[in-house]
Amino acid sequence: MDRVTMHPYKKGLKGTLKMPGDKSITHRAIMLGAVANGKTTVKRYLNSADCNSTIRCVRQLGIHIEEQKDTLTIHGNGWTGLREAEDTLDVGNSGTTIRLLSGILAGSPIHTEITGDASIRRRPMGRVVQPLLKMGASITGKENGEFAPLTIAGGNTKGITYESPVASAQVKSAILFCGLQSEGMTKVTEPYRSRDHSERILKSFGAAVMIDERTVRTNGRQNLQATSIEVPGDISSAAFFLGAGAITPGSQIKMKDVGLNPTRTGIIDILIRMDANISITNKRLFNNEPVGDITIGYSSLQGIEIGGEMIPRLIDEIPMIALIATQASGVTYIKDAAELRMKETDRIETIASELQKLGIVIETTEDGMIIEGNQKVKGGSVSTNDDHRIGMMLAVASCIATDEVSIDGIPSLEVSYPGFLDDLDSLKSE
Ligand code: S3P
Repeated sequence: MDRVTMHPYKKGLKGTLKMPGDKSITHRAIMLGAVANGKTTVKRYLNSADCNSTIRCVRQLGIHIEEQKDTLTIHGNGWTGLREAEDTLDVGNSGTTIRLLSGILAGSPIHTEITGDASIRRRPMGRVVQPLLKMGASITGKENGEFAPLTIAGGNTKGITYESPVASAQVKSAILFCGLQSEGMTKVTEPYRSRDHSERILKSFGAAVMIDERTVRTNGRQNLQATSIEVPGDISSAAFFLGAGAITPGSQIKMKDVGLNPTRTGIIDILIRMDANISITNKRLFNNEPVGDITIGYSSLQGIEIGGEMIPRLIDEIPMIALIATQASGVTYIKDAAELRMKETDRIETIASELQKLGIVIETTEDGMIIEGNQKVKGGSVSTNDDHRIGMMLAVASCIATDEVSIDGIPSLEVSYPGFLDDLDSLKSE
């Protein structure tokens, strides 16, 4: 099914959902489980196309992984236990897989070719290749290492002190993963703090990582010990229901076991600033990660300004935030978000152009958007552009549209949330 037709739904979305596992944490648990010593279990892992790409690549590197219901068991062989793959590794659509795995492979004395789909081959890789080259790995790629396919011959790396030009957890993690295998200390400083799942999960694997504001440090030659991970629900998936509940009149939606890591909760902070009706209960920890239940209800919202250090805390939620802003009163300004142009699609362009097909006007800028509130969403024919988060945002838009919305490119939703349309449907009572 490539295309779905969504009918307008004006009655309010009601119900309780359990969010699928966090994508960032699932990737890290699989990759680090593969290079830890012993058997790591990953409970409630995200079973989606992106995470399956990581499982496939890690298996090609000789690691045995068992899949049972909602739990993975990874038989890690230590940092030196990866075997040369017979074929090129294919990460599909997953930026986290190619960038983080490159960090692991840069420290490992094997030869690997790694690539992905058309979107991956357009996305910048120089941001990880450059620091890994400085650490002593041999990496080549298209246009001087800027684009995949990449060829990586790793091993014998040395720690570095690196000032990253971008606030990117993928860059920071790749350097840390190589640094843990290298000689000496590795230190990464970012312009703003990015998500810190790698730092937290590394502690669960027994590694020492020191954090001082925007800088993380780790000593080299640290072995990882297998562990048991329970993956929180993905706040980036919950964001679509937070948005759906906030803008569809009459809604009340509860999401259970959602990750509340402070480096990811920008969406909650801005919804509160917009006057949303939101509450959090049942707060606790899964491993080193905070989780809780979030309830959102419909309310009238205010436009706001979003920029600076807030951006990395909500970067993946901006497609949904843009739609929410069209329903607020007043204008919303999003700035300092040029990274959106480097995602699965150029999201500044895809958000504006797809919503335009539903009658919405969004002014794009180099690094963000200017969004007028109180706009009507009309029916129409739109496309995900093979970008999962654009697709889910458009499905939410259909809930408040005046007419049918037909969405093309539905298979891309498998990337992060295979059951999304069923979950959305379950909130509608006919
Ligand atoms: C991710 C980090 C973010 C995010 C991506 C997942 C991660 O990318 O947008 O969806 O798992 O580390 P950057 O680190 O490149 O900003």
